[in-house]
Amino acid sequence: MGSVSLVSAALRRLEGKVALITGGSSGIGESAARLFAKHGAKVVIADVQDELGHSVCEELKTESASFVHCDVTQEKDVENAVNTAVSKHGKLDIMFNNAGIVGTPKPNILDNDKAEFEKVISVNVVGAFLGTKHAARVMIPVRRGSIISTASVCGTIGGVASHAYTSSKHGVIGLMRNTAVELGQHGIRVNCVSPYVVLTPLVKDFFKLDDDEVNRLYSNLKEAVLKAEDIAEAALFLGSDESKYVSGHNLIVDGGFTIVNPGFCMFPQSI
Ligand SMILES: NC(=O)c1ccc[n+]([C@@H]2O[C@H](COP(=O)([O-])OP(=O)(O)OC[C@H]3O[C@@H](n4cnc5c(N)ncnc54)[C@H](O)[C@@H]3O)[C@@H](O)[C@H]2O)c1
Repeated sequence: MGSVSLVSAALRRLEGKVALITGGSSGIGESAARLFAKHGAKVVIADVQDELGHSVCEELKTESASFVHCDVTQEKDVENAVNTAVSKHGKLDIMFNNAGIVGTPKPNILDNDKAEFEKVISVNVVGAFLGTKHAARVMIPVRRGSIISTASVCGTIGGVASHAYTSSKHGVIGLMRNTAVELGQHGIRVNCVSPYVVLTPLVKDFFKLDDDEVNRLYSNLKEAVLKAEDIAEAALFLGSDESKYVSGHNLIVDGGFTIVNPGFCMFPQSI
């Protein structure tokens, strides 16, 4: 092996690991699939968007990426996705519960209907619960594994999104904390990654924003623009052995958005 390939092998932070990524056909999940594969992981994408998921896998080397149809609200689909990863690759090291929906932007609670609220909870919280449960099923016997769920800044503060979405992301963080306590007994780490606004199809639908408008949104951290790749990097850290003692943590990737109140701040703020 030449020195260049030795270096690149050393830089592959997920070499030999197997990762299952829900919502991996688009946005943050797609970005994570690409980054995880680049770092040597075998990736299984689980999503309801089959065509997109297959095309992501085709762009990656076929032996390192595959697609399984999975609606995360359906336990048999999630069970099957986990079983597919294990039967294909012999194990599951990283479960990334990332699939999510935002629901419709109705700021007035009187306009919110129960079915819509339940749909958001079902995908975002029940989906993360089922992913965590079935990942734990195969991780407990081998006493290792990393479970990551995508929460949001809306899991920490109120007023940024709909009641359903905010409730769901608080729920995802609660689920992560409770399962981190239980599964820590089995050597399994459980964490969340919590993004601020990233321009993905989800955000385009909800806020009706384009690239320029996203760049003009309030940001505590000036100059840098948050991209899906930045969230994938945070998930890479949580999935890799570099975070071997990190569990029960909500890794907020928001440039400091959630720690400042711009309405009462001694430092000059500009939108
Ligand atoms: N984009 C942001 O600004 C932002 C901010 C904070 C949190 N998030 C969270 O990041 C995660 C990924 O969102 P994104 O922005 O990449 O959006 P996205 O719409 O690009 O991707 C979401 C993916 O989830 C899939 N999905 C939806 N429902 C599903 C279901 N029932 N079963 C399986 N897959 C399903 C979609 O098909 C899609 O591929 C979500 O949990 C979202 O709440 C996003």
